[in-house]
Amino acid sequence: MCGIIGYSGHRPAVPLLVEGLHRLEYRGYDSSGVAFEQAGRLQVVKAAGKLSALEAKLEENAYMLATTGMGHTRWATHGLPVEKNAHPHLSQDGRIAIVHNGIIENFQELKEELLAKGHTFLSDTDTEVLAHLIGEERKAAPSLREAFARALRRAHGAYAVVMIALEEPGVMYAARMSAPLLMGVGVGECFLASDIPAFLPYTRDVVFLEDGELARIKGPKWEVLSLADLSPVKKSVSHVPWDMQAAAKGGYKHFMLKEIMEQPRVITDCLTGRVAEEKDGPRVLLHELDALPVPSRLHIVACGTSYNAGLWGRQLLEGVGRIPTDLDIASEFRYRDPMLLPGEVVMVISQSGETADTLAALRLAREKGCKVIGLCNVVGSSIAREADVVLYTQAGPEISVASTKAMCSQMVLIALMALYYGQRNGVTDNAMLRGLLELPERLAAALPSMQERAAQLALRFASSRSFFYLGRGQCHALALEGALKLKELSYIHAEGYAAGEMKHGPIALIDPQFPTFALALDDALFAKVKSNIQEVLARQGRVIALVQEREGRTPDLQVEELWVLPASLPALSGFFALPALQLFSYQMADYLGKDVDQPRNLAKSVTVE
Ligand code: F6R
Repeated sequence: MCGIIGYSGHRPAVPLLVEGLHRLEYRGYDSSGVAFEQAGRLQVVKAAGKLSALEAKLEENAYMLATTGMGHTRWATHGLPVEKNAHPHLSQDGRIAIVHNGIIENFQELKEELLAKGHTFLSDTDTEVLAHLIGEERKAAPSLREAFARALRRAHGAYAVVMIALEEPGVMYAARMSAPLLMGVGVGECFLASDIPAFLPYTRDVVFLEDGELARIKGPKWEVLSLADLSPVKKSVSHVPWDMQAAAKGGYKHFMLKEIMEQPRVITDCLTGRVAEEKDGPRVLLHELDALPVPSRLHIVACGTSYNAGLWGRQLLEGVGRIPTDLDIASEFRYRDPMLLPGEVVMVISQSGETADTLAALRLAREKGCKVIGLCNVVGSSIAREADVVLYTQAGPEISVASTKAMCSQMVLIALMALYYGQRNGVTDNAMLRGLLELPERLAAALPSMQERAAQLALRFASSRSFFYLGRGQCHALALEGALKLKELSYIHAEGYAAGEMKHGPIALIDPQFPTFALALDDALFAKVKSNIQEVLARQGRVIALVQEREGRTPDLQVEELWVLPASLPALSGFFALPALQLFSYQMADYLGKDVDQPRNLAKSVTVE
């Protein structure tokens, strides 16, 4: 939520900040702004709406002189997405500017205290209160850094903050608490950002800031201090492997389409180094897990699409891995005082590694003495750093707000985990492992025609206002994911349901205007789903059925639209069904003219509760 970029160096800061904001726009995009020092004043330019509105304002003026500045793209928490609430915000005297990602929970109390001292506020935000508080603290503090630290010590909640001030030209201060913030170290210049892609064209050398740390940057010089007592903290610089190409559209119309089509490559990357050919067949290597005992129970905790990946994987972890597995939505898990027994392990799944509820679930599990496995995409993210063991999902940067390839990579990792624990429990499934190894080539061959089929169906069903997605077993999880993708991208109401639950209520909704997308893949539950489809047809419901060939033949289902996917082992059919569902939602949203990569009201990384 919200994207932050800061720059101090030798280049013109404003164009660089805007360019960085474009790469962070997926984190929030309801308003944006920049601040920099010019002609002895802190200049702030901001605009409501997409970044193009800010660019239009900036074009009216020449801002080429400043070489230090910061920018922000907002996802509203406190206050409407209007210009006055856009960041940066200034202190009362206009000498300090900050950008902020997170929520200051005690802002009301702090605001009242400042109002009593004569402060006046121009916005409805918690961020402006923090800016004023720093200014107020500066009156008594011996230095700017002390004032910054004092104010932050009084702020409760989550924050990543960057500050510039007139009294220290060319300097940026930054601090974080439960919200992502990293520093990029270039040649003669430094960057601060919520995420690596913001400064990827300039450097891949990164310092990961921890909670309770404060950074001071001036061009090439940087230092990290403890927020508690301003003592120096030793930090190392990590080199990240991502390149710019991975974070660019690469000729596709949208990042989402690129990311869907990349899934064969993602599967290959996830498998690389994790499978060894041995005398008696292939073997899964997950060395990261070797040091942990086999869990007596695994609790999977995640949000959104990552939760759906966990739900998809539970059946494999139990069936193939022989590990009893529970599943929780992170925002529920963290508040229900879960029972975690000795020997049980929590696994959190998160693409970003920064989702506030998932991170809180991880911390709770560790507090309760449980080992935590983090299944995570973003290298160096909070979850990756705080988990006892990290399994990186190797999907590469996922820019589109709707998650696609990350789920595919999470599914590969869970399938590997199931096989790995199966091995440790004395069970092997060579057919499944060989099937996984063949997947990239088979999926790459199938994707182009899947896209065409998705486009045809989107055209046919684009006027629908509601959809059911039905499935059983692993397809229940995929039905939830299909419905989630359709609603977030096209704003069409969609419900994912366990097909067997339909007759317990939801079937009342079926009529010719309420189509059903049924996942009737080639697995042990096919006949059951077929019966559920008949029940929908008997009530004049329109049906798209996602099916698979069996022994070269298409299943006999008399529905309006059959979408036939390549044959596969039942355990792996999800790797074909998932992109089909993603492509259907993508084509639907594109056909309806929706903002595919940045759907309304959403943010990529949900760093607030
Ligand atoms: C849906 C989507 C979200 C995320 C959820 C968890 O397309 O992107 O539902 O899956 O916010 O995010 P991570 O995986 O980063 O924890």
